[in-house]
Amino acid sequence: MEKLVITGPTPLKGEVTINGAKNAAVAILPATLLINGTCTINNLPNISDVKISCEILEKLGAKITWNTPNEITIDTTNISTTKAPLDLTSKFRASYYIIGAMLGRMGEIEVGMPGGCKLGARPIDQHIKGFELLGAEVTVEKGTIYAKANKLKGNNIYMDIVSVGATINVMLASVLAEGTTIIDNAAKEPHIVDVANFLNTMGADIRGAGTDVIKINGVKSLHGDATYSVVPDQIEAGTFMLAAVATKGDLIIKNCITKHLDSITAKILEVGGNVEDNGDSIRVWCKKRPTKANIKTLPYPGFPTDLQPQMGVVLSLADGTSIINESIWESRFQYTEELNKMGAKITAQGKTAFFEGVPKLYGAPVYSSDLRAGAALIIAGIAANGVTEVYNLEHIDRGYENIEERFRKIGAKIERIKE
Ligand code: EPU
Repeated sequence: MEKLVITGPTPLKGEVTINGAKNAAVAILPATLLINGTCTINNLPNISDVKISCEILEKLGAKITWNTPNEITIDTTNISTTKAPLDLTSKFRASYYIIGAMLGRMGEIEVGMPGGCKLGARPIDQHIKGFELLGAEVTVEKGTIYAKANKLKGNNIYMDIVSVGATINVMLASVLAEGTTIIDNAAKEPHIVDVANFLNTMGADIRGAGTDVIKINGVKSLHGDATYSVVPDQIEAGTFMLAAVATKGDLIIKNCITKHLDSITAKILEVGGNVEDNGDSIRVWCKKRPTKANIKTLPYPGFPTDLQPQMGVVLSLADGTSIINESIWESRFQYTEELNKMGAKITAQGKTAFFEGVPKLYGAPVYSSDLRAGAALIIAGIAANGVTEVYNLEHIDRGYENIEERFRKIGAKIERIKE
């Protein structure tokens, strides 16, 4: 078992460079199944979710060459099976993108129900509704999803809820379908635009990604033979921005698209932090104790649920009582119990949590329940007095590349220890 041992408090200072976005990468990789040929993807984060995505693609018949730790060339000419490996697909959430991509490529797929962070119920009814409206038959039996279509045909699909996964999955299935598909009430996250840009680079005809209506004109084939660079990770950038505030530090966060960070910038200014937007980098610093603020998580461009726990650390140290309303996931306050072990005063009731700010947190052994909870506990450990041990690192390694090394470079006293 591994743990991170952090000695605080340390104000983080210096420069950090943001990697490619996990949630774009884990969709772009299966999207390569729609190409009958080769393409190169760079700025890929070197994280376990990306490695598992690559393993799944290889099991389906793709050939992958790692050119560098952050770039692959992938040849999807020979896809040899329509059965995805159940053991691998159940390891993470984004394995559901295999369904849309393989329906488009082979007209058939058998795949295990997706795994991933335990954030409460994570239904995929909107994905299935979209596939069915495109003409697929979908059944779910004993944890396995079977999807089949003789011919996919474009249709108008209204999403009952705004879903990142369903929007991307239906987009994948409709790229090679006959005719036009319109996705209404689509999600607008930067990674949706990135997947559409990737597919368009390879010859797809997708318009409107980034708005709530996406129009996909089906094309006969995608050509590949191109290189694509994954968009910088909005959530990773936000994680470091909030780490700067929580530790009363001063960070220059490079390789980010600052427009994607507007909702985070707004909240940092509200709690008394400072933000300087330099186009492709952003400086965040905070000299005094943050003040209280209320947060409601929302689909993009609202405040992202994937930064809610990191913001929770800032608010647990703020002057005054703050309220966070989590509107996306049923169960994303598990980290608050761990912060309370560190001296925070948080009361979580269902989808709402009350943060009675304390002047200091104190080191303690804590357990990450999911990826972003893990990031929050690292930030708390760097801000806290004394020694914090963070356990369950497998969650953190799913989404952050070399996390301890990158925090160490900006001053954190943090070590990964094997027990
Ligand atoms: N939902 C349904 N039916 C569906 C799909 C979703 O009811 O068919 C509900 C969900 O239960 C949830 C809401 O709709 O209440 C939004 O879910 P969404 O589909 O947008 O989430 P997702 O695609 O499963 C992605 C990210 C999550 C991120 C959410 C919201 C990936 C692989 N995962 O999940 O990222 O929290 O969007 O932005 O892209 C993370 O990176 O830590 C993470 C959990």
